[in-house]
Amino acid sequence: MELIDGKALARVVDEQTRADVAALVASGGPRPGLAVVLVGDDPASQVYVRRKIKGCEAVGITSFERRLPASTTQAELMAVIAALNADPQVHGILCQVPLPPHIDQGAVLDAIRPDKDVDGFHPVNVGRLSTGTGGIVPCTPLGVMLLLDSVLPELKGLDVVVIGKSNIVGKPIAMLLLEREATVTVTHIHTKGLAEITRKADVIVAAAGAPELVRGYWVKPGAVIIDVGITRVPGANGKDRLVGDVAFAEMGHARAVTPVPGGVGPMTIACLLSNTVKAACVAAG
Ligand code: GUN
Repeated sequence: MELIDGKALARVVDEQTRADVAALVASGGPRPGLAVVLVGDDPASQVYVRRKIKGCEAVGITSFERRLPASTTQAELMAVIAALNADPQVHGILCQVPLPPHIDQGAVLDAIRPDKDVDGFHPVNVGRLSTGTGGIVPCTPLGVMLLLDSVLPELKGLDVVVIGKSNIVGKPIAMLLLEREATVTVTHIHTKGLAEITRKADVIVAAAGAPELVRGYWVKPGAVIIDVGITRVPGANGKDRLVGDVAFAEMGHARAVTPVPGGVGPMTIACLLSNTVKAACVAAG
């Protein structure tokens, strides 16, 4: 079984992004700028935001951090988004979710200008993805496709089972796979007979957020497995450990598997940075 090294592939993507930033600036274009908005003090979100800001520094993207208290009102947050929409130095806007419960998350994400929506969450970008007409592709799904391409460049006609139906991961991945002419089955934790379905798959993309859901007997010999899940569970030594949606130790008969951590995770940030540079290039004309 081959390990699909997300850290190594993310370094390759970052190298390209760094070169694209340098080329844009050298040609008289703008230095790409990414605004990261964080409302409240959710510890996991703080970690993600810190990584995104560090990622910007590493490739030459200017970052604009907007940390707002959990008590921020809808109107205040909308005003921050409006200011970032209008700021010519900001080419990408990312509003970390989940937002506090008193905020209408959909309304906030819809307020981000589609051409600055580097998460690809805006309905315009969702619509473009589902019709195969361009737009900004969400970061984790884009990372999954790059990981798949690294081991399986031709997806046409393959049976791919996606486990998970989220707007951020499951649904957009299904759209991208359909564009590549894979035969896509979208399932979720309430799907009946899931193991029988996955056992026929050439590729499994597990994005259900259910630790070690996919067992060895669910997987056909030679299948390629992309594990998007990442859940913190108590370990034997009293320390938490991170586990994916796939029972990794049972995957010896697979052709290739992404590890958790070190698989999809690093690709998500690399794709965010790459999306930001693409948005800056579009803005530069
Ligand atoms: N929270 C967890 N993942 C993401 C992501 O990809 N983008 C944003 N904005 N928030 C997240």
